[in-house]
Amino acid sequence: MTRSYPLVAAADPEVHAALVAELRRQEEQIELIASENHTSPAVLEALGSVLTNKYAEGYPGRRYYGGCEHVDSVENLARERLKELFQAEAANVQPSSGSQANQAALLALAEPGDTILAMELNHGGHLSHGHPRNASGIFYRFVHYGVSPETEQLDYEQVERLAREHRPRVLMAGASAYPRFLDFERLAAIAREVEAAFLVDMAHIAGLVAAGLHPSPVPWADVVTMTTHKTLRGPRGGAIVCKEAWIKKVNSAVFPGIQGGPLMHAIAAKAVAFREALDPSFRDYQGRVVENAAALAEGLRRRGYRLVGGGTDNHLLLVDLRGPEGPGITGRIAEEALEGAHITVNKNLIPFDPEKPMQTSGIRIGTPAVTTRGFDTGDMESIAGWMDRILRDPENAALREELRDEVLDLCRSKPIYPSLSAV
Ligand SMILES: Cc1ncc(COP(=O)(O)O)c(C=O)c1O
Repeated sequence: MTRSYPLVAAADPEVHAALVAELRRQEEQIELIASENHTSPAVLEALGSVLTNKYAEGYPGRRYYGGCEHVDSVENLARERLKELFQAEAANVQPSSGSQANQAALLALAEPGDTILAMELNHGGHLSHGHPRNASGIFYRFVHYGVSPETEQLDYEQVERLAREHRPRVLMAGASAYPRFLDFERLAAIAREVEAAFLVDMAHIAGLVAAGLHPSPVPWADVVTMTTHKTLRGPRGGAIVCKEAWIKKVNSAVFPGIQGGPLMHAIAAKAVAFREALDPSFRDYQGRVVENAAALAEGLRRRGYRLVGGGTDNHLLLVDLRGPEGPGITGRIAEEALEGAHITVNKNLIPFDPEKPMQTSGIRIGTPAVTTRGFDTGDMESIAGWMDRILRDPENAALREELRDEVLDLCRSKPIYPSLSAV
């Protein structure tokens, strides 16, 4: 196999060393971070294309620079494919990230100082949904709803109560760490009752929605934001779909509202990923993501772990490490111990968590990335077994080393990028 990134190797050995080390890390570990995935080689190729050289402020047909005919074709393809994928009326593919998509959506839907009702961060929400140090929390007055203490599922009655009490300008839904389906129809009815705009951030579940495996927010919401790099398996970035009535405001909120020149190489990579997502094989892939999450959840439950929210409907699970039969360690210790055996997860607050965000009582586990490399439900059973042994004996370095060899065997049997060499 020829050396990967040979031009970088010749021009900059230090950066090259980091690139191949990262390639090796991805190949040799079990990636269970719910927000990550492995894009196709075609997406990587588009990302590394000459489109990165082009300035294209504005939108197709109305740019502030000359020479935009080819990037116009690319952006039009991306927009049309995104609309088709989600049966949406209108689309904007320029947001450089999910946070910027949210920032633009709020700019389009509300005025600074307006009240926004969104999901509590500690119950699964995201920083860009009103964290006091995020631009959202600085510019708007956020009120937060959460999950019910009994079911750990979204408390729709609380949403209704808070909406009636605060009459928000925008009702926002969507989460980073919520394992169950969200009832967008019910949330839309609440928004309608209090005359709020309805904004859904489907960053985590976009791939499942595209495949018809999670109810779609698109028929119900005024504006829907997403990231393109999680379940959707495209390049790092954001996108927005919305009702036709909102697209002018959304477009002007993205540019010139919060961004300058769009990342045209990323938009080309988004177009390639959206085409992949329109292929019937993408639905099969998402079906396996959900099956694998269910299998991993069952494997852990059988071994005494408590699953927050009672289980999973989607690509992720939230595991409470406490409880009568749990290992009784913090998320931080769990994350570090698993990493020693090349199993990557992230510590995560669970609802009503008594621990601090840097410690936590839980871990979040997702299956999009392992499913992309071809792991199946049998592999999930092995992973649940390895995780359990490590989490019940987190100080045992010899055990971690022994299991690391088994992890490496599995990873080497299913390479992510067979055409790339990590030397
Ligand atoms: C629900 C949700 N929205 C937005 C984002 C932000 O995306 P980005 O990291 O691209 O800004 C995330 C990222 O994890 C997320 O989970």
